[in-house]
Amino acid sequence: MKVLVVGNGGREHALAWKLLQSPRVKQVICVPGNGGTATLERCQNLPLQVNDFEGIRRFVSTSGVQLAVIGPEAPLAEGITDYLQKLGIPVFGPTQAGAQIEASKAWAKALMEEANIPTAKAAVFTQEAEAIAYVQAEGAPIVVKADGLAAGKGVTVAATVAEAEDAIRQAFRGQFGDAGSRLVIEECMVGQEVSVLALTDGLTIRPLVPAQDHKRIGEGDTGANTGGMGAYAPAPLVTPELMARIQAEVLEPAIAALRNRGIDYRGVLYAGLMITPEGDPKVVEFNCRFGDPETQVILPLLDTPLDELLLACVNQRLADTAIAWKSGAAACVVMAAGGYPGSYEKGKVISGIADAEATGAVVFHAGTRMQKDVLTNGGRVLNVTALGDSFDEAFANAYAAVDKIRFDGAYCRRDIGHRVRTASVSPSA
Ligand code: AMP
Ligand code: GLY
Repeated sequence: MKVLVVGNGGREHALAWKLLQSPRVKQVICVPGNGGTATLERCQNLPLQVNDFEGIRRFVSTSGVQLAVIGPEAPLAEGITDYLQKLGIPVFGPTQAGAQIEASKAWAKALMEEANIPTAKAAVFTQEAEAIAYVQAEGAPIVVKADGLAAGKGVTVAATVAEAEDAIRQAFRGQFGDAGSRLVIEECMVGQEVSVLALTDGLTIRPLVPAQDHKRIGEGDTGANTGGMGAYAPAPLVTPELMARIQAEVLEPAIAALRNRGIDYRGVLYAGLMITPEGDPKVVEFNCRFGDPETQVILPLLDTPLDELLLACVNQRLADTAIAWKSGAAACVVMAAGGYPGSYEKGKVISGIADAEATGAVVFHAGTRMQKDVLTNGGRVLNVTALGDSFDEAFANAYAAVDKIRFDGAYCRRDIGHRVRTASVSPSA
């Protein structure tokens, strides 16, 4: 089987790497891929933009691709699945209608309300004065969110009313373009966040192992928000009892509500959850795709061939397909460019990746490109991932691999997994 993977991050490198472990997958083509997918055996990069649907069509219509897997949300929201399905290509990833669950926070809120899914109380605004009156009435802390896709930057958790007002004014002044012409303003929830990615064929929905990531740039979870500085799975916070509640209170109702709207959703439904101090799950957001960097810790633990699961979703056979997991824990440490998430330089030569992998770790590339050497090409550069019997061991292995890698300005947090890196926490969720 030939599989097309759309995207260029660590998530797509992990998807390609896992797909190629299946005896049935002969080749993976990444659009556009990165320095990691360029060097992966039986994997080839195709230098097209992820939203170049016509270019992708020209390639798939002559190359015998039997499955397309879509990584990022932007092409899903633009309807790449509908477009490729019309050509008879099986696609893993929801249609444009289904992708609204991530592409419009107001749409997702309405769906959650209709399905009685626990989430923060919220209101939707298209007028600045009404939004400001609302935050003045509600008080702080309060959360202001651009309705549309804003590359993870459209959310302000405001500690004061003034901060919320400022976020409202900036959004209506076009800070996020069209994505911010409508705002969702919601109650601030407290607790620990966890990502539950679930596979669905539109009828059956099955969670993958739960993961947690670290969004802040600084140690102790301080400083600016980033795309994620590291992750681990299976998150022990989600006990089997809690996962059963998430299945019954969040995942099943969501897929039923999508079906009620006539949406045949086949792909990943990713629930970003807040686990409240009382232990209740509440939805922060839904995403319509695999998480990044969560995927980089989930897939190394997966025992079932990935193509089997993705095809079961595409062909609506998920109810008959078992998902098997390896025991132990997976840890991922992100190596970033100096200055990230602010401005940073690109084009630095990276050395030591082979030495890092010789320790048994896997180095997924995020922002890299291949020239003569592997060069940095983004803010988050590498996702160094390792397994272990315990979280302690998995993180010791990941950091031992990190220490073999060099590039100018390299930065990583040394405390990834601090909540679980104690002998008393076991990874078996
Ligand atoms: P989102 O893009 O909706 O996931 O929001 C980004 C981040 O903002 C989340 O991962 C949370 O850390 C935070 N956040 C979003 N909504 C809320 C909320 N209602 N209460 C507290 N934190 C939130
Ligand atoms: N790790 C957060 C995301 O994929 O949205």
